[in-house]
Amino acid sequence: MAAASDTVFIILAAGKGTRMRSDLAKVLHRAGGRSLLEHVIRACQPLKPAQLLAVVGHQAEAVGQVAESLGAQTVLQQPQRGTGHAMQVARRAIKSRAKLAVVLPGDAPLLRTETLASLIDTHRRGEAAATILTAEIEDPSGYGRIVRDEQGRVVAIVEDKSATPEQHAIREVNSSIYCFTLAKLWPVLNALRPENAHRELYLTDAIELLRERNERVLAEIAPDPREILGCNTRVHLADADLIFRARKAAQIMEDGATIYLPETVLIDPDVTAGNDTVIEPGVQLLGNTRIGARCIIRAGSILQDTRVDDAAVIAAYSVLDSAHVGPKAAIGPFSRLRPGTDIRAGAHVGSFVELKKTVLGEGAKAPHLSYLGDATIGRDTNVGAGTITCNYDGVAKHPTTIGSGVFIGSDTALVAPVRIGDGAYVAAGSVITDNVPANALGIGRGRQVNKPGWASARRKATTRQESSRAKHRKRGTSSRSRKRSRRKSRSRSTNRR
Ligand code: UD1
Ligand code: MG
Repeated sequence: MAAASDTVFIILAAGKGTRMRSDLAKVLHRAGGRSLLEHVIRACQPLKPAQLLAVVGHQAEAVGQVAESLGAQTVLQQPQRGTGHAMQVARRAIKSRAKLAVVLPGDAPLLRTETLASLIDTHRRGEAAATILTAEIEDPSGYGRIVRDEQGRVVAIVEDKSATPEQHAIREVNSSIYCFTLAKLWPVLNALRPENAHRELYLTDAIELLRERNERVLAEIAPDPREILGCNTRVHLADADLIFRARKAAQIMEDGATIYLPETVLIDPDVTAGNDTVIEPGVQLLGNTRIGARCIIRAGSILQDTRVDDAAVIAAYSVLDSAHVGPKAAIGPFSRLRPGTDIRAGAHVGSFVELKKTVLGEGAKAPHLSYLGDATIGRDTNVGAGTITCNYDGVAKHPTTIGSGVFIGSDTALVAPVRIGDGAYVAAGSVITDNVPANALGIGRGRQVNKPGWASARRKATTRQESSRAKHRKRGTSSRSRKRSRRKSRSRSTNRR
């Protein structure tokens, strides 16, 4: 791809985005797992621009932070008086040796680098003063229309609000993505006037002014009209998101993973999945998640910044955040792995088990209903149902260390800090407050007492009470007199003892 070392790229990102009806600046809204602004900046970067500028204004600090973190330089437009005004402001920051400017709105995230490269190429070859990226779309409402003369040459861009009924019918629209020859642009920028519904300086008016000066204006029609989608509202945002998600799912499938009902999954741009991995409906793979080969990610699971090694299974409705799952491990259904969890090869985490900052050793199991936090658990250890590491004493967190080949009986509370040695057993229902040495049995619970015959004696007593109540009911005695007679009969029997 041709580099653009004589070209400054200017992203207009100062507007409020009123139609989004949001407290967040429009360009920071997300589609396809990234902010709109990030998508635009990433589309520019491969062309190695001489300078990459972002015009910021509304929420300048937050927008500027995103722009700068991605290598763009920011210019402040305060107040925001339209796209033409934004360009006047940008001029201050442009280095004199740049010949061309590519101008992009911060709200068109689907634009591809190839399309930008082709736009610059058309501009150079045509020796134009301005080249506009346009698109022919079914529903042009909201966009500026491209007005051409009988010879098909671009005459002007007319904004939706100022268009005549005839112009409204034009289906070729302005993408707001242009290439300008700077020496030709500056004089007309100074001539812009705020004669429109919003009393703003429109960059689109520069086109008509250039034509009045007999400058060459070209238009290049985008190969895929979806690329120029400008996200002004939440509906546009959802449209863009859908396209991004479909693109990403297609890429994952082309790379060799199966996705059932791909239209139901959310996969962020940086996610990878290996060959023969199967992804079921409703799965979300987010952030920097990496899935190995031959894995199964079952329905409804959400994985954020998580690494899953080959042949592991994440059963339905599991939630994993910043975790590592080793090869052939099995997670879920309904497991929660919180940051710092490391599940080693072949280990198993079952239903309603939550882990945080915990290593579960090779082949170890925690199959049911547990909380394991700040714990290190050795290989082939079995953690019984309902085991809890009591890692927090109300002030600080403490570690639990469990060796290899250990058996932790069900419903055990391990009060940290505590260590269980290799090969030890812990009796079910224990509250373990002291270390258990290797190969020992730790029991920490009240001793059981059996009372022979207690149950049958109780049953007899209950039957006696029942028959006396029935007798009184027959005689119609009130409940108060029944109580009285019960007291009497009790005192009689006590006297007899
Ligand atoms: C703009 C075009 C329209 C085109 C459409 C494509 C104008 C007047 N209209 O309309 O022809 O069809 O894009 O999506 O240019 N901005 C600033 N400073 C300002 C005003 C806006 O930086 O003072 C930025 C916004 O943050 C935004 C971009 O410029 O990223 C475009 O502004 P927006 O309000 O979205 O323009 P549209 O009405 O979509
Ligand atoms: Mg817009």
